[in-house]
Amino acid sequence: MKKLAIVLALSLATAFAATAAMAADGKTLYAKCAGCHGADGTKTAQSKALKGLSADAFTKAMEGYKAKKFGGPKKAVMEGQAAALSPEDIKALAAYVSKF
Ligand code: HEC
Repeated sequence: MKKLAIVLALSLATAFAATAAMAADGKTLYAKCAGCHGADGTKTAQSKALKGLSADAFTKAMEGYKAKKFGGPKKAVMEGQAAALSPEDIKALAAYVSKF
């Protein structure tokens, strides 16, 4: 019984660690943004430049899109993007994007 509990605890810890690592990787998360925003956040043909945004401004924008309380004429595009992101994802992305 004790052994089973240890195995369970270990596999739970591994699962949590894997989830945390995935959620915390801003670079990986950004892969699906790069098509519109560019790998370095300078592409503006179909979107707005992300380069130059502070982590704070980025977070406010993403939380705003999520809550449907922020945006310009094309905000529907971003509301869809933001809806899929957890607060941890947004935090990781903010750290990544603010270094462009
Ligand atoms: C299909 C194209 C597309 C994708 C994919 C996309 N965006 Fe956007 N993004 C846009 C458009 C268009 C706007 C301008 C929307 C508006 O009018 O408010 C925008 C605006 C933004 C803004 C606001 C910038 C500002 O200065 O107000 C942020 C922040 C942002 N996107 C982050 C992201 C992140 C992070 C991802 C990936 C999770 C992402 N976007 C994926 C098209 C896209």
